[in-house]
Amino acid sequence: MSSIDIKHRRKTFRCDRPKALMFHKNTVFYQTMNKNHNHALNRPNSQSEDKKMLVGYNKGEKEEVFRKMLKETYTLRNGVEIPKLGFGTWQIEEGEDAYNAVKTALEVGYRHIDTAQGYGNEKSVGRAIKDSAVPREEVFVTSKLEAHIKDYEGAKEAFAETLKRLDTDYIDLFIIHAPLPWGEMGKDCDEGNVEAYRALEDIYNAKKARAIGVSNFEVKHLQNILKNNEIVPHVNQIGYFIGIDQSKTIDFCRENDIFVEAYSPLGIGFLLENETVQNIAKKYGKTPAQICIRYLLEKGVSTLPKSVHKNRMIENSEVDFKIVDADMKTLDAIEGDPRRWDEIF
Ligand SMILES: NC(=O)c1ccc[n+]([C@@H]2O[C@H](COP(=O)([O-])OP(=O)(O)OC[C@H]3O[C@@H](n4cnc5c(N)ncnc54)[C@H](OP(=O)(O)O)[C@@H]3O)[C@@H](O)[C@H]2O)c1
Repeated sequence: MSSIDIKHRRKTFRCDRPKALMFHKNTVFYQTMNKNHNHALNRPNSQSEDKKMLVGYNKGEKEEVFRKMLKETYTLRNGVEIPKLGFGTWQIEEGEDAYNAVKTALEVGYRHIDTAQGYGNEKSVGRAIKDSAVPREEVFVTSKLEAHIKDYEGAKEAFAETLKRLDTDYIDLFIIHAPLPWGEMGKDCDEGNVEAYRALEDIYNAKKARAIGVSNFEVKHLQNILKNNEIVPHVNQIGYFIGIDQSKTIDFCRENDIFVEAYSPLGIGFLLENETVQNIAKKYGKTPAQICIRYLLEKGVSTLPKSVHKNRMIENSEVDFKIVDADMKTLDAIEGDPRRWDEIF
């Protein structure tokens, strides 16, 4: 990890703070995941197509395969299709940085852009989508309600601002960013989450969002919504990558037909230094990043790698290969959160 990377992260930090991510830490990955590692946790449209390896393709065919990979989708409970691979925009600064990154990602072929009110870059994300050659209806746009907004009116007003900033009439997926405001671990926000989610339900019923959901919600937070709201969230976006045990939340989501999106697939980059990941990458003739991303696709979840570099955006999309069961088991056995928060903030 270069010091430039780290400096860039510090400069662009807005939310997704470590304290808020403590839900995912101190868990033991192998406890239940080993049992289940083969299950497709969500519903891939065409799993058999994942099996095709890229070796043996000529350049034109290879590019076609990449475009196909980026266009492949899962299907949410309400029939809405969500691309398997999205493009993350956390820590990409509002302005030219965010504009250029999203415009390039769309040129490369990404069709799912993940932003958030808290990232502060919705305006540039919207401008990049508008200026791109890709029709709006071909881009799946996600944004997130600020974690501290826990009331009905506040959520509706904030959503209206998101539409304005993104310069769009509707959004594909709108989710509550976190069950608690950042840095307020232990606070009881059950009622606030129900109220904020009620606003999302009205937004969905008014067809201003094609799907709604939550992020960073554990089982108890999901149970609260299931008990007190009308619409089961379509999506739960959680921190899920090699070394992190999310089996309880994922099992619960699967039982309730809530689609799981995995964020920070590369462990914010730190996972790429893992020796086991590097060795498996060598074995497959792939990069560590491709192994990390493919691992999540093998688990049947969608994922959202972020990079401001075009070559890495392309690399991260070249994941149309199969990791065999024995290697999945080896990756499953890696334990521990690789993220070094002290170096990030
Ligand atoms: N809901 C939530 O609370 C939440 C929390 C965190 C993240 N997210 C979403 O998930 C997205 C992805 O997660 P993330 O941004 O935390 O981290 P990530 O995608 O796991 O990793 C991004 C880091 O890895 C580097 N990188 C990317 N591709 C690489 C490659 N092929 N080789 C080497 N380095 C590479 C990037 O650097 P460069 O940019 O310099 O290439 C960046 O430093 C976010 O952007 C956001 O949209 C959501």
